Amino acid sequence: MTDLENLLHELFSSNGLAYAVLSSPQCKTMQCIKIIVRPVAMKQGICYQVTEHRGSQAFHKNLSASECEKFLQEQLNGNYKQALFCTEQADYQVLNNKRQSVILKKPPTKKQSIQMHNRKKQYILEENAPFLLAIGLTTKSGALTAKTSGKFRQLNKFLEMIADILPCFKTKKKLHIIDFGCGKAYLTFALYHYLVNVKKYEVDIVGLDLKQEVITHCQTLAAQLGCTGLRFQVGDINHHVATGPVDMVISLHACDTATDAALEKAIRWNAQVILCAPCCQHELFKQIKNTALSPLLDHGILKERFSALATDAARVQLLEILGYQTQAIEFIDLEHTPKNLLIRAVKRKSNEKCSPLALQAYYDFKHALNITPSLERRFNEELQKFGSAENT
Ligand SMILES: C[S@@+](CC[C@H](N)C(=O)[O-])C[C@H]1O[C@@H](n2cnc3c(N)ncnc32)[C@H](O)[C@@H]1O
Repeated sequence: MTDLENLLHELFSSNGLAYAVLSSPQCKTMQCIKIIVRPVAMKQGICYQVTEHRGSQAFHKNLSASECEKFLQEQLNGNYKQALFCTEQADYQVLNNKRQSVILKKPPTKKQSIQMHNRKKQYILEENAPFLLAIGLTTKSGALTAKTSGKFRQLNKFLEMIADILPCFKTKKKLHIIDFGCGKAYLTFALYHYLVNVKKYEVDIVGLDLKQEVITHCQTLAAQLGCTGLRFQVGDINHHVATGPVDMVISLHACDTATDAALEKAIRWNAQVILCAPCCQHELFKQIKNTALSPLLDHGILKERFSALATDAARVQLLEILGYQTQAIEFIDLEHTPKNLLIRAVKRKSNEKCSPLALQAYYDFKHALNITPSLERRFNEELQKFGSAENT
């Protein structure tokens, strides 16, 4: 055996390799300009992930220790001028020419950190949470199906957002929450599970929806699961009266201006946090006019999408003006649903005023598009007062 063959055999029989790279192709026409090897943990034990870099593309394959040893021997037999093999004890630099290989032993530069191949994503929600079976997302054995795994990811994304805003309530033991347009309440049950079972909050959560049959279904489920502090009511967001303080308002995919009704309630109740995922924003489609934008507005689908974005931009800006620090963020990847935008608003401290420029920016936007959105009409009086205060 040559020194190089000995080295490769030693590295792969001891599982000691932390990292390897082969570079400087002997021949300029070779497509693969670099090969990187890393150990990865697979179900069957340690394997080696080989990444071949061809132009701007990278191709991966997983090889067993003996396959990888053989593959590298072949590659170093005339293809590459240089190689580096790293172990925790030493680095081995190989200088290869067509006649001989020189191996230089150097101090180690890398620790061996073996990655799990296809690591399972750590979700906030465990797949065996009992409510998931009750709402039909998992099978009796606690497994997700191809149909339900998208919804499961959406629930987790939603809970990640809840986890992000929880520090707003660090001094509170009991949280008062309303979910407007809760529908079948998958997200409401997930929220309840996370706050009560995982985070140990006391809660009063109300799910409200127009539809009697979904509310009856949710009430039955809440009773079955013994969800104390979770109530469901039939009602219209526009007419809902809160019986006490409201800390957080949620409204996910409530249709068209139902979202504005939810925002109005939340703002008037001084809710600390508002999370809403708008849906079917049809209102401004009929209002928007701007001849300079005719390449955009003369095409139905472009106008529809632009109107939806303009609706949400107006909402975000109005929330800012009305006392909330507001962001528009991606709710769940577009692959799952095109309705993937979420508005997250957190009440500013009473001494933190909104910039006067925000009101001007809103009016410039409104006039440019010739729009008067539902949320603006709902706060007409406040905006006028705010505007005149700015002008004094
Ligand atoms: C698309 S579903 C969304 C359900 C759930 N929030 C989700 O994201 O999975 C919208 C729900 O909003 C309800 N809704 C629409 N307008 C409403 C209103 N003005 N008051 C109460 N509920 C409303 C509908 O009845 C429907 O169940």
